[in-house]
Amino acid sequence: MAQGGVCDLVRAAAGQPCGFWLGSGGLIPAHEHNVENKTGLPLVHLGITRPEDLAPLFADLRGRFDEECACACDESSWKQFRDAWLGRKSGLLTQITDNWLKPATQELKRVVGQELNQLRAHVESKIEERRKAIEAGTSKTASARERVDLSLPGVIRTIGSHHLIRQVFQQIEDIFFSIGFSVVEGPEIETPYYNFEALNIPEFHPVRDDMDTFYLDLPKGAPQPLLLRTHTSPMQIRTMEKRQPPVRVIVPGKVYRRDNPDATHSFIFHQVEGLAVDSDITFCDFTGTIEYFVKQFFGPGVKTRFRPSYFPFTEPSVEFGVSCIFCGGSGSAAGGGTCSKCKGSGWIELFGAGMVDPAVYGFVKYDPKKVSGFAFGMGIDRLAMLKYGIDDIQVFFQNDARFLRQFP
Ligand code: PHE
Repeated sequence: MAQGGVCDLVRAAAGQPCGFWLGSGGLIPAHEHNVENKTGLPLVHLGITRPEDLAPLFADLRGRFDEECACACDESSWKQFRDAWLGRKSGLLTQITDNWLKPATQELKRVVGQELNQLRAHVESKIEERRKAIEAGTSKTASARERVDLSLPGVIRTIGSHHLIRQVFQQIEDIFFSIGFSVVEGPEIETPYYNFEALNIPEFHPVRDDMDTFYLDLPKGAPQPLLLRTHTSPMQIRTMEKRQPPVRVIVPGKVYRRDNPDATHSFIFHQVEGLAVDSDITFCDFTGTIEYFVKQFFGPGVKTRFRPSYFPFTEPSVEFGVSCIFCGGSGSAAGGGTCSKCKGSGWIELFGAGMVDPAVYGFVKYDPKKVSGFAFGMGIDRLAMLKYGIDDIQVFFQNDARFLRQFP
């Protein structure tokens, strides 16, 4: 690339000494100067006295200009080039004005002026043309760089899916939606009142031992203690405080207990609470609803059973179970021996439930003589493990993609 030429011009334009007209032996005869050197000298010094000598001189200059112009091929060399020719202080055209035009004899002045004007017009238009060409060139390379190469393989983004727990929540919600329940959600940080007292579990009730839980570290003087809810049952109270019967809700959510993690325990797990209260709800409505749910969830083949149990907020209370989905209720494993899932009993306990204890209505200002209802609280992790044959609850929380991918 003929960059040297441009640089020479730049040096000349900046008025730097580059031996313009002083050779080692003194003044160099005019005809030995190359063209850019000539602009530093008055015409007389170049030996030009006749108007007709001017045309070849300017033609020379123009030739030099055209040559250099082609070399200005990027923005910065174009700028240097422009300043070398058009720079106001010491650009070549200014030098011509100062050194050739101004001191010219009357006879030459008119022609020098004409030639200079033509040269200036040529220089200005070519420099502008060059600028446009460079600009178009840069945008061309930029757009070439940005152009989409359709032959490249696409970027594959793996599409996520709902976590199995979320999927099971959805299945349960769909089943209860179909029989007139709606979903409510509540806070995971609760007051002891909603988590215990209003559910008929006073402070020294032994059942609190089973729900030993996480209390929040609050600043001194906090109005009341707060805890991570141990079950979704507080939402029974919050819902009944807000709504009048008939109430038919389910409450999906996370709950927390101080359990040591093992294959069937986790300090965080998931429940779906259910509550139905109306003026004439009976134990039959209760069992019918639950049976409908498990047959939808596990399939029509499962048998159900209700056994007496105890919860402070239901009376009577039941422990609800289904015939073992692994051995079909037989109690024996497929390859012989006892079924390990139900330990040979043929039954699997699923969740606690019962008719709402009338004492609870007192906390929400319902009249226990006018309303009745049922409630249940199921562990979702347990239901998911049974339905999908998962034998360790921890996999739900480890987020191992190999596990998650099995449930797209
Ligand atoms: N809240 C109870 C538990 O977590 C379950 C339950 C809910 C029992 C509703 C009866 C009625 O163990």
